[in-house]
Amino acid sequence: MSADLILGVETSCDDTSLALVAEDGTVTACETVNQYSIHEAFGGVFPDLASRAHLAAILPTLQQVMGAIDHDRARIAAIAVTRGPGLIGSLLVGVNAAQGLGLAWGKPVIGVNHLRGHLRSPELEGGQIVYPALVLLVSGGHTALALMESATRITALGQTRDDSMGECYDKVARSLGLPMPGGPAIDRLAADGTPRHPLPRPMLREGYAFSFSGLKSSIARLLEREPALMQTEAARADVAASFVAACLDIAEAKLDRALAAHPVASVVVVGGVAASRPLRDRIGALAARHGVTLSLPPLTWATDNAAMIALAGWDYLRAGQAPGLRADPALALDAW
Ligand code: KG4
Ligand code: ZN
Repeated sequence: MSADLILGVETSCDDTSLALVAEDGTVTACETVNQYSIHEAFGGVFPDLASRAHLAAILPTLQQVMGAIDHDRARIAAIAVTRGPGLIGSLLVGVNAAQGLGLAWGKPVIGVNHLRGHLRSPELEGGQIVYPALVLLVSGGHTALALMESATRITALGQTRDDSMGECYDKVARSLGLPMPGGPAIDRLAADGTPRHPLPRPMLREGYAFSFSGLKSSIARLLEREPALMQTEAARADVAASFVAACLDIAEAKLDRALAAHPVASVVVVGGVAASRPLRDRIGALAARHGVTLSLPPLTWATDNAAMIALAGWDYLRAGQAPGLRADPALALDAW
């Protein structure tokens, strides 16, 4: 058989993921090891422990995915590895491993922008983005709005100035005494609540940039001022519902503005927070009002995974332009 697969390697944050993906997006294998149990006690990802956990997990995970093709290296066209953005120590584990494998196996190694992986994720396993598309990326590490004219013509419209939406979900969940990951726990609690607390919607009227730190701290202040809110499930549910309402208003306002300015065929929501049912419903209604289709990746491909990195790797391979392998913790959304 010919070299029909890219081996994807993703270690930018707290998931060690490896995958084998064909050029049409078919996923032959994808194995992801998460680190929730390691970071739970810190209430967030502890960078040093994350790199060590990647080191421990990467070779066994490689063995597992290569097992899916009987360790037949002839089928590997290239190795695609996330080179940024992310935690520098975590990125270096993946980049060094990929470089070593490339040398040992005689395969090209491609440094991939993690955010491009997220943007391409809906096209894994037969999914399709209808171009041109407006993409809202909402994950634990990132919140951004981008215009995609094609798989590779990407223009960043705006990004968060501070926290990401997912990070804000996780911090608010912690303030409310909920476990990691915070997103699903907040959504469950919010479903029974009423959004009765007035909370800020930072930068609602200002272009396409986002800011979430003010929202996060106003919830911390609210809980400090009114400790009784923590004492019943119903009161906590109202806080969660008020928080979710603020996030939805922000996401909707930014997309609404972008849709009015850019004639597109579809709206795409990617990243871990795209799993949120209320967000899906709200953006679905917005897309319908604008007469455009809505694409969402299934949850497996919404959260961090190496399959999306391998799929983006094919774009780089076809373009014949390698951006190099320098790990860059702050790599921009529209950087190649
Ligand atoms: O994309 P992802 O796995 O990681 C990064 O690239 O950062 O996103 C993880 C984030 C976490 O903050 C998690 O709380 C959030 O996605 N999340 C959700 C839901 N499921 C995961 N947020 C809201 N509702 C959900 N159902
Ligand atoms: Zn990510």
